[in-house]
Amino acid sequence: MENFYYNIPTKVYFGKGQIVHLGECLRACGSSVLLVYGGGSIHKNGVYEAVTAHLRAAELPWRELPGVEPNPRCTSVDKGAALCRAHGLNVILAVGGGSVIDCAKVIAAAADYDGPSWELMEDRTRVRSVLPVVSVVTAAGTGSEMDSGAVISNWETRQKLSIGRVDMYPRYTIMDPTYTFSVPPRQTAAGTADMISHIFELYFSRTPHTLMSDNLCEGLLRTCIASGPAALQNPEDYHARAELLWASGWAINGFLRSGRLGAWSCHPMEHPLSAWYDITHGVGLAILTPRWMRYILQKDASSAAKLAAYAVHVWNADPALGRQACALYGIDRTEQFFYEILGLPNSLGALGIDDARFVQMAQTAAAEGLSNAFVPLTAEDVAAIYRACL
Ligand code: NZQ
Ligand code: ZN
Repeated sequence: MENFYYNIPTKVYFGKGQIVHLGECLRACGSSVLLVYGGGSIHKNGVYEAVTAHLRAAELPWRELPGVEPNPRCTSVDKGAALCRAHGLNVILAVGGGSVIDCAKVIAAAADYDGPSWELMEDRTRVRSVLPVVSVVTAAGTGSEMDSGAVISNWETRQKLSIGRVDMYPRYTIMDPTYTFSVPPRQTAAGTADMISHIFELYFSRTPHTLMSDNLCEGLLRTCIASGPAALQNPEDYHARAELLWASGWAINGFLRSGRLGAWSCHPMEHPLSAWYDITHGVGLAILTPRWMRYILQKDASSAAKLAAYAVHVWNADPALGRQACALYGIDRTEQFFYEILGLPNSLGALGIDDARFVQMAQTAAAEGLSNAFVPLTAEDVAAIYRACL
């Protein structure tokens, strides 16, 4: 285990009806609010009414930025930052999924910056200050409601970049599983695949002696594998939605990363796909992940040990089969889970994506530190993984 600094500062109100705390959370952070939300789901499921009722009750003035896109654009960030500057808004309230919360975090950083917000994505050291963010999360998956990261797209340059700073953790997050009842099946499945991928990105690490967090990773994986299908079967299954929502935050809030080194593998490969083709993040990950597993098993035989441990502890593979057979069993079960049980698309071809940009996208992905991944990958390796996804 490596040395680490533990600081997960987001205060969480979890459970049905916890929106009653919204006013006090916002008042602890500021006096005038920018309410950021997406394409309208919060108007259909009643969350908008609940949120604005509490803003009125707390006598907090607010302005709104609606229409934040899935795979949020820097143009939306610029609009939000301009509203903050024009009206002196001093707390950002994100109500939505990962896209809305990510957009809100970068608005919070861009409000005190004179240039285009994209410059902050390119160079985080330009950030001068970050306004406090409060989130009301409506979809499980990214964990943005409990982490310090944000991912923003530039549609003009076809780039999707991440930024992460300790002052970008939401100060408060309200997690009411009933707010996720209306998440459609495809997004429920994609969110489950996304949080599973976040756990894989940490679990498949070369750092030795991470037993405690390996056990937690395996437990969280089993939680996602049990709760995703249950939520698909009955979208109003409170307990399944609650398990997914809580697992979503803990998969990525920094806790499981404690004591580990190494770069992520599948996320750097997925981001260029979203940037060029605007696909759903979790769908891209579900397509890439089993192919990545097969590829690294072939490229580096030493990866079999961790893949086999995953198969044994998560999928009950019989260790007597031996490492290689266990590893393959775990990969087969992962594929079956994503494509047959969650019903996600199983190829890039199914999304209408061909190999035209694979070389360029592979270079972008490799530049994100893949030489430091669980099994180091070159641009050629990434292009081969993309081809295996066709
Ligand atoms: O826009 P609205 O109308 O709200 O609808 C959204 C959107 O169409 C809908 N939705 C959300 N909550 C709903 C709902 N529909 C009905 N009922 C509800 N309760 O779901 C659709 C997708 O929403 P989005 O926020 O885009 O999904 P997700 O939460 O998966 O976020 C994806 C974004 O997060 C980034 C991804 O790259 C992507 O841009 N990520 C952020 C991370 C982070 N901050 O740490 C890490 C992740 O790895 C990821 O990269
Ligand atoms: Zn993700």
